[in-house]
Parts: sequence; C-alpha cells; structure tokens
Amino acid sequence: MTITNAEELEGLKAIGRIVADTLQGMARAMEPGMTTRELDAIGRRMLEAEGAQSAPEVTYGFPGATCISVGEEIAHGIPGDRVLKAGDLVNIDVSAEKGGFFADTGASFALGEVRPEVARLARDGRRAMELGVAQVRSGRPLAEIGNAVGRFAAKRGYSLIRNLASHGVGRSLHEYPEEIATWPNRDRRRIHRGLVLTVEPFLSLGGRMAVQDSDGWTLRAAPKALAVQYEHTVVATERGPLVVTLPGGAGASRA
Ligand code: CO
Ligand code: CO
Repeated sequence: MTITNAEELEGLKAIGRIVADTLQGMARAMEPGMTTRELDAIGRRMLEAEGAQSAPEVTYGFPGATCISVGEEIAHGIPGDRVLKAGDLVNIDVSAEKGGFFADTGASFALGEVRPEVARLARDGRRAMELGVAQVRSGRPLAEIGNAVGRFAAKRGYSLIRNLASHGVGRSLHEYPEEIATWPNRDRRRIHRGLVLTVEPFLSLGGRMAVQDSDGWTLRAAPKALAVQYEHTVVATERGPLVVTLPGGAGASRA
C-alpha cells in the first residue's frame, strides 16, 4: 500500500507493533524441550490478545499462526511436533492483520550455543537486512536494496537465496511491488513516497535457491545449507526508511 494520511500510518504502526511484540515474546519464551506447536500457541495467544489475526492463516490457509523454521528449514515451516533443542537455529516469522492493515516481521535465533560460523551468520544476516532497509527512500531505485545486500554478502563470503523476494504489504500480506529482489539485480522501478514494503534477505552458508518440501509449505535451501532471515516492514519517506515493526512500536527511522 501507499500511505497517504495519518490514519493509515497509525493503522499500519499498530499492527507493526503487534507483530514485533509477538515475535519478541515468542523468542523470549523459546526453550529446548518445547515443540514448535507450543511456541506457535504462544504467538497465537499474543496476536489474539491484541485483536489481530494471523495473516498466513487467513490469506493462504497456512496450518499455524506463525511460521517456525528449524535448522535446514529456511521459511514457511509448519508448527508441529518437532522438539526444539540447544544448538538449533530457529526462524520465526510473524505476519498479521488488524483493522484492515497487515505487517510482516521475522528473525532467526540461535537457541543456546551454536557453532561460531552459525553465530556469525546470524549477526551478519541482521546487518544485511539493516543495510537493505537503509536503502529505502522515496525516489530511489528498488534495485538498490538487493544491490546493497549483495555487496555485503559477497564481501563477507555468504550466498543469498535468490528466489525468496521481499514484497509490498499493508492492505494485504503480499501486494505491489510483488517481487523485490534482495540479491544483485537491475529492477528499474523506483520507490515512491509512502510505499510500504518488507525487506527480508536470506543470507546462507551456500544455499542459492529455496525448494519446497513434500508437505507443500516448508522451504529448504538448495544446495542444502543453513540460512537466516531478518525482516522488517518499512514505509518509504523522503528522509529515509520508517520501520514500523519495532518492539514497543517506536516507529523509529532506523532498523
Ligand atoms: Co515474513
Ligand atoms: Co514477508
């Protein structure tokens, strides 16, 4: 969507704060021995307490309130019987709707001790997302998001998953501009004032494509490798990015 007035911005910020707080609440509650279904139930309760509905559930019939992807799963993992254990890399993606507004956020977390290269991947995945967010400003080419992420990934020796794009959001979960590359690209479209979009690069230790599991949802990297994803929902302004998915709803201008 394109933000054209203060009420729209307030509506978007409200759901942005809700998904950010839900993501943070789930991350804090996560512990070894818990199933992903139990973790999802915590997220569902937080969304319901705020009067929000899970966006993937209402939009696509996703079998869960949130997407929880563990280890080699990189996105759209279905909450279920899988038991979390120390050393797992866990991605939680929370998107939801309230009052006709949608926001989308996600992050990967190392549960307990992980190998140093996995800890580095997680740190750099967040930095890659922040670099992408920093490119958001009205008048700029959309391509600069993926080009900035691509330069960083190349410099630090990571691969990028090249078929999981960022997207417009706001009045629905996925909308114009449908496919925003988070890898080097020549997209000629420009960012206009008030455009609402996600920035969600997938940084990997060798993966280049996401491929779907036989369950019809879960995505894994090919070649087989770990990947991390960090995602914010952002409004493009003339001064830069306005991040609406910060815990507590700061709506601050930095990622
Ligand atoms: Co998401
Ligand atoms: Co998204």
